[in-house]
Amino acid sequence: NWNMKNFVEDQTELIKRQVGDRKVLLALSGGVDSSVVAALLLKAIGQQLVCVHVNHGLMRKNESESVVEVFKNQLHANLIYVDATERFLGKLENVADPEEKRKIIGGEFIRVFEEEARKLDGIDFLGQGTIYPDIIESGTKTAKMVKSHHNVGGLPEDLQFELVEPLKQLFKDEVRACGIELGLPPHMVYRQPFPGPGLGVRCLGAITRDRLEAVRESDAILREEFEKAGLDKKVWQYFTVVPDFKSVGMKNHERCFEYMVILRAINTVDAMTATIEKVDWEVLEKITGRILAEVENVNRVCYDMSPKPPATIEFE
Ligand code: XMP
Repeated sequence: NWNMKNFVEDQTELIKRQVGDRKVLLALSGGVDSSVVAALLLKAIGQQLVCVHVNHGLMRKNESESVVEVFKNQLHANLIYVDATERFLGKLENVADPEEKRKIIGGEFIRVFEEEARKLDGIDFLGQGTIYPDIIESGTKTAKMVKSHHNVGGLPEDLQFELVEPLKQLFKDEVRACGIELGLPPHMVYRQPFPGPGLGVRCLGAITRDRLEAVRESDAILREEFEKAGLDKKVWQYFTVVPDFKSVGMKNHERCFEYMVILRAINTVDAMTATIEKVDWEVLEKITGRILAEVENVNRVCYDMSPKPPATIEFE
């Protein structure tokens, strides 16, 4: 009979058989799929798994720290942490076009990963968090995006590995159940979707450090307040964006000219269409008050009322 406990045991055996005494390399972004595949590989082959976490400087607040804490400090995985923040922000300087930004982030991600792979000896396998919908929905935008940013598929000829994809028969809810079975923390397993290019597509237009900081801090406040209000379990995706223009305001009796934060909270089944969440006025006021008091360079907060279509979920 099929249950998650048996699935984990069967896959552990299959992975051991496939890998033998050789090594597996895994790009561990900290997303649900890569985290679960990391935990499963760790259970099967322990220190023969080499995880690489690339921090592109566009992660949410404390996200990379949490990947290191869980996988390195708690689970004692063989984890290489690469802080590539300066490199990514350098390449992105003055680049305003959304597609160009995505291309730079995706391309640079592969190059950083490839450089790390070259430093390592005797790697034969590449672990991947491919799940069933990635295979069947490969024609949709979302799946393609996921592919271009997470399926390190663009590696050069001399870096071709055999793939280990133990989750490829599972749907998302089964992947989460597998993560829980493997003992991963619920905050990691029930994480809301987060785009590969991260906060890079939420810091609209050409990325600047002050606005990137405003996106990161306001996003952290939004998530904290949604959690307190129990909305984190109810709403499919919620985040903030910061546009690249300023508006006039008043702070300490003086005119100021600063950025705005836009809040977005949506529900969807398949991300192809989406409706907005009717967030309680009190919750919105609380979030607005905190952002205006705690986030630098911001004097205005707006709530995005647009469904998809015609708007997409993200802004870029
Ligand atoms: P849109 O903005 O197209 O987003 O309505 C649909 C869903 O896809 C997510 N998204 C991405 N996920 N890499 C990802 O892994 C990406 O590049 C990417 N772009 C958008 C988005 O957050 C939403 O859930």
